[in-house]
Amino acid sequence: MARFETIDQFDPKGKRVLVRVDFNVPMQDGEITDATRIERAAVTLKELMGKGARVIALSHFGRPKGKVEPAMSLEPIARALGKALGGIDVVFGKVCVGPEAEAAVAKVGEGGIALLENLRFHAGEEKNQKEFADALAALGDVYVNDAFSASHRAHASVTGLAERLPAYAGRLMEAELKALGAAVGDADRPVAALIGGAKVSTKLDVLGHLLDKVDVLIIGGGMANTFLFADDVEIGKSLCEKDLAGNAREIAAKAKARNVRIVLPVDAVVATRFEANAPHRVTGLDSVEPEEMILDVGPESVAAVEEALARCKTLLWNGPMGAFEVAPFDQGTNAVARAAARLTREGRLQSVAGGGDTVAALAHAGVLEEFSYVSTAGGAFLEFIEGKDLPGVAALAR
Ligand code: 3PG
Ligand code: MG
Repeated sequence: MARFETIDQFDPKGKRVLVRVDFNVPMQDGEITDATRIERAAVTLKELMGKGARVIALSHFGRPKGKVEPAMSLEPIARALGKALGGIDVVFGKVCVGPEAEAAVAKVGEGGIALLENLRFHAGEEKNQKEFADALAALGDVYVNDAFSASHRAHASVTGLAERLPAYAGRLMEAELKALGAAVGDADRPVAALIGGAKVSTKLDVLGHLLDKVDVLIIGGGMANTFLFADDVEIGKSLCEKDLAGNAREIAAKAKARNVRIVLPVDAVVATRFEANAPHRVTGLDSVEPEEMILDVGPESVAAVEEALARCKTLLWNGPMGAFEVAPFDQGTNAVARAAARLTREGRLQSVAGGGDTVAALAHAGVLEEFSYVSTAGGAFLEFIEGKDLPGVAALAR
């Protein structure tokens, strides 16, 4: 693991501590549907406040692309943060740089906290522009990165600040690196990666790189359809990226050459409509009708995954097995999640999961607490397990 300093290594009393957090939480109709990222970053914020720091929390939300988008304001999150910190008032800065930001920071006394508006309302954040990073840095005396889940982005608040101020890792950053480092770097073998979700296109690189890291690659969700299609299976109207069939074949060939076992579905739950409780049936992959869609894996696929997992000592999971948001197409994901949880309980499997959908799926299956470790990261989790250096982590180590 890269070496870096933590918040044990400085005295925050009286200092303006800029803490990069990731409050990019799922929201629906203005309500936060999962506050995990806020709660887990609150540990670091509380500790710093308890030691007399003047905390200034910085985050992005969504992808406003350098423009002010009122629907992506962090203001509702300031309230949720106050709650997560035990019912305190969080000063909200309506702009994250310049005089308004300075005024918000000036209101924060020792042991207090401000949250500044969405960093991505400024184009300088994603471009890591010098002027923007300088303006952010002017607000603080030291920098703490507690946003592992955003540390695959070389943005001003992630790498720019680490280059300008004394930089430290927060508690959540430490926890993520420790748990994921152990599950990737020093993992007990055999290692299985379960990669699911809708699209292959977003995870092609990951699949390719994982072949150098794992012994078993389990492919589920809509992306499995592209592999089945590439293997001449009739998949009817299923979600599929037909133009990526060649890439899927390459991955399969590379896996074979490296002696990595690929586990693909062998049966499916199909329906002609994608809606809750639509009429559906379980079928082998030799008889999916032209008007049908594969929406979940069937029981034989679940059994094959269970059998593969029972031979492994480590599992890295990102992406659901089927359309788990809509019953009854959650059954495959639920069953695999419960199998992994059982093996973990029995001390036979180290189970590590990451990604918003994955965490929601494990919560839905009722096994979130039973996994060895659940990361707050999605994209950063995937890049980390691929073995990539995350710019935000590298910047702390410098
Ligand atoms: C995430 O939700 O994965 C992180 O907050 C990063 O967001 P991004 O993919 O928009 O950079
Ligand atoms: Mg993302």
